[in-house]
Amino acid sequence: MTTVRHGKGETPSHPFFRFAMCAFLPPCAPVLNRSHFLTALGRNDTFSQGLGVKIAISGKGGVGKTTLAGVMSRLLASQGSRVVCIDADPDSNLAGAIGIPQEELDQIRPLAQMKEFIEERTGAKKGAYGGFFKLNPKVDDIPDQFSVAKDGLRLVVLGTIPQGGGGCFCPENVLLKAFLAHLFVERDEYVIVDMEAGLEHLGRGTSAYVDALLIVVEPGRRSFQTARQINSLSQDLGVPRVYIVGNKVTGPSDIEMIEQHLSGLPLLGSISLSEKVAQADRLGVSPYDIDDQIRREVGAIVAGLADALR
Ligand SMILES: Nc1ncnc2c1ncn2[C@@H]1O[C@H](COP(=O)(O)OP(=O)(O)O)[C@@H](O)[C@H]1O
Ligand SMILES: [Mg+2]
Repeated sequence: MTTVRHGKGETPSHPFFRFAMCAFLPPCAPVLNRSHFLTALGRNDTFSQGLGVKIAISGKGGVGKTTLAGVMSRLLASQGSRVVCIDADPDSNLAGAIGIPQEELDQIRPLAQMKEFIEERTGAKKGAYGGFFKLNPKVDDIPDQFSVAKDGLRLVVLGTIPQGGGGCFCPENVLLKAFLAHLFVERDEYVIVDMEAGLEHLGRGTSAYVDALLIVVEPGRRSFQTARQINSLSQDLGVPRVYIVGNKVTGPSDIEMIEQHLSGLPLLGSISLSEKVAQADRLGVSPYDIDDQIRREVGAIVAGLADALR
């Protein structure tokens, strides 16, 4: 494995100060580093002590981000960890990959579409530009109020921000970013975020608290190109550690190809091309439930990550 990058800087001590800084730091601000914070507390063995580990998953569309997020979440939950899963890709169905039936998912609405809730928490009308609204809305009760649960894990769906794209300075975006900042900085749980190819939802300060960004690739040049772009974006944002996960791998030559094309980035592990993953999709269950091989392979990825973060 090649060397991983580490952020630098200090963590302000007061929780509110840290939280506020995380959500809305200007680009020139110093990068905050969660591991420094943990080290200061004498707690740098995040996996073994059960202190929350924050994992963001990105990559080109179709490479298997949602599959990895779903199986990893189920695996961690089966080991007794508390897991909050965030579906941050509007074009995704993380619930399906976790194995949450559609009827249950229908009972929760994407956060970005909850007009009254966003108005109540931010003090602003949805879609209002130029008006006043709170930059530090209350968000800590969102996982309890707006999630669907399965076997020890909880899923929150963020949904699409309609106007102006993810970068807009509008109440719904402020709420989503504040929510993610809260999850990454304050929570003592595993947080797994299934993201888009971009890193839209991560603010600069928040990014430094992501323990690991996993970029999923398949053996193909287009996914490598996207991986390089995501890596470059993550460096700008100050994400401390970035790893590659290979998916739809058919043999050692695919792994060599990934290592060769992404030689500057550590390959955390890989998942084989599997007919059972497609079958799970057809049956409406998680690959975790029917595919021993993916369970083993994702288990090895989780173990590798634990080692890397130790
Ligand atoms: N290891 C695999 N073997 C076979 N099919 C896979 C594998 N991983 C993902 N797929 C399939 O590829 C498609 C895209 O996967 P998905 O996880 O939704 O990707 P993403 O979230 O990156 O868009 C789905 O149909 C999924 O079932
Ligand atoms: Mg997806």
